[in-house]
Amino acid sequence: MPERRVLLIIGGGVAAYKSLVLIRELARRGVATRAILTKAGKEFVTPLSVGALTGDKVYSDLFDLTDEAEMGHIELSRSADLVVVAPATADLIAKAANGLANDLASTAILATDKPVLYAPAMNVRMWEHAATQRNAARLAGDGALFVGPNEGEMACGEFGFGRMAEPVEIADAIDAALAGGGLDNSLAGKRIIVTAGPTHEPIDPVRYIANRSSGKQGYAIAKALARLGADVTLVSGPTELASPHGVKTIRVETARQMLEAVDGALPADCAIMCAAVADYRPENESGNKIKKEHGGIGAISLAENPDILKTVSSKKAGRPRLVVGFAAETDNVLAHARAKRIRKGCDWIIANDVSAGAHCAMGGDRNTVTLISADGEEAWPELSKDETAQKLARAIADALAGPPSLKAAE
Ligand code: PMT
Repeated sequence: MPERRVLLIIGGGVAAYKSLVLIRELARRGVATRAILTKAGKEFVTPLSVGALTGDKVYSDLFDLTDEAEMGHIELSRSADLVVVAPATADLIAKAANGLANDLASTAILATDKPVLYAPAMNVRMWEHAATQRNAARLAGDGALFVGPNEGEMACGEFGFGRMAEPVEIADAIDAALAGGGLDNSLAGKRIIVTAGPTHEPIDPVRYIANRSSGKQGYAIAKALARLGADVTLVSGPTELASPHGVKTIRVETARQMLEAVDGALPADCAIMCAAVADYRPENESGNKIKKEHGGIGAISLAENPDILKTVSSKKAGRPRLVVGFAAETDNVLAHARAKRIRKGCDWIIANDVSAGAHCAMGGDRNTVTLISADGEEAWPELSKDETAQKLARAIADALAGPPSLKAAE
């Protein structure tokens, strides 16, 4: 097999030390690394340590005559099969998204004719900032590949998405990119709608009916599907979460707005209703704060909300080929979920134990689910919401790839 080569651009971030581990991991897998170390990157790792691991010269300066004589920066940008940016800082991502080229790293990214894989690493607020999300989405739209960022504790002490993917994960993504000319794109061309989060049903200007859903599971599903190349529309109730990159997010407040947004996003190949939609809303929203003296909120009457899952499942024309519901239950989980699948007419239902004694799936970070379809049931072990999302995305990719054998509930 011809030697596989990557050009690794090491940006300035605490995670730069992981890039040293990445170089070793790549060497173990038979991938040769040539490195560009940015000026900021040198504050975190030294050219000496990078060069010792790559066994090659480490490049840093755009206008270094010696470098240019040995290998011009254009040639350098094309000398590998893949360009990997790890850590990909907010600055490097912003420059690349806007086509700036004022140093060796950004010039190499712009000049390369090879795929570019980014492993973002930054503070959670920086990652979630609309500007960074816009830049990452633009790069993804231009065909760039991404691995991570992961959720976890960061060097700055904050918690959230922003940690660089682990070296083994990045190496896996590199392997996949080198093997197939890209990461797993098995959902490319498939339109998928995901709902997430709670709905808020206004009572008066200061109160609403809601539930404890955080949106984490639905957002993780949208992200996992987008990573497989799907064209994802995420219809989200009120949450604190940033839109996953590469995903079109429509934010709504109420169940009726959610239905309208889902309807507007159809047609689709698949719809996944993960949102915890309020079944009821106050019949009339009061324009003024309801006073205790006038009966308080105990006096409000309720109206039933539309059932979005049932509406989509029962579409005569333009029904998605695969409709997936969730059933959040605290007792008799499987029995209730089986009945719900039939009642709502969806193809699959994900039975989810949300009893307080379990691990607080609603609002928490982990859950234990069972996938129920007309063809059988599959109990999954306790997983993080990201892992659940990846497993579900994989199952959806397999289902949509095969013949349309999925039986809708009779
Ligand atoms: O958001 P997280 O904190 O990450 O938590 C994730 C979750 C626990 C909310 C999620 O995994 C989950 O289980 N979602 C379903 C929650 C639920 O309220 O289920 P349900 O049994 O009320 O509804 C069954 C199905 O019908 C769901 O797919 C729901 O989206 C859908 N539904 C319900 C009512 C309604 N009016 N319209 C609907 O579409």
